[in-house]
Amino acid sequence: MDNRIIFAAPSILSADFGNLAGAVRRVDESGAEWIHVDVMDGHFARNLSFGPKTVADLRPLTKLVMDCHLMVDNPQEYIESFAEAGADYFTFHAEAAVHSHRIIQSIKSAGMKAGVCIVPGTPVGVLEELLPDLDLVLVLLVNPGFGGQKMIAPCLDKVSKLKALREERGCRYLLSVDGGVTADNARLVIEKGADVIVAGSAFFNARDDREAVRKLKGLA
Ligand code: DX5
Ligand code: ZN
Repeated sequence: MDNRIIFAAPSILSADFGNLAGAVRRVDESGAEWIHVDVMDGHFARNLSFGPKTVADLRPLTKLVMDCHLMVDNPQEYIESFAEAGADYFTFHAEAAVHSHRIIQSIKSAGMKAGVCIVPGTPVGVLEELLPDLDLVLVLLVNPGFGGQKMIAPCLDKVSKLKALREERGCRYLLSVDGGVTADNARLVIEKGADVIVAGSAFFNARDDREAVRKLKGLA
């Protein structure tokens, strides 16, 4: 594998919601660098989860990168509240926005890094005009809504395409993958080009958090 730095981003969607502070402590002590917050509105994704107050309440507990994944309609309506809450990355769905270019500018003006995510049915081509402005591209390897699903392997071809596009265009977005990543397929995902590994169940169901992170980074 090349010498890219790989970041682990455990998703608290798979944590015990009755003890999120404890979940953040687990992630903090695991060697992971990011914490992935899956925000769902019950419309774009058929589940409900967290809001900006969750991020605001967790923010003082950790220095981890707060990586917010907004599976919501009208994502532009949440930029200010997540910025005030202390989110570091604000990743919205290309499928939930007509004016993605303007939303990216608004995210950056609010002081956050801008990411765009695509669901399994959306081709990479949808992102092409946005790539020069993005800090992160999130490739969903499952249909949005729940942790613990099996990865839709053909989606990995998008990671390779986005890695090639980044080199061709001289872009600098991080490539993040999300959904169904486990210790068994992490190396494959990294070889395809992933820089950030989001994992919910593979982290929170593990017996040894530090070992889980090492495996998710392809180090064990
Ligand atoms: C799915 C979420 C994912 C999910 C990952 O809608 O975006 O972040 O929580 O969970 P696992 O790693 O268990 O598939
Ligand atoms: Zn996610």
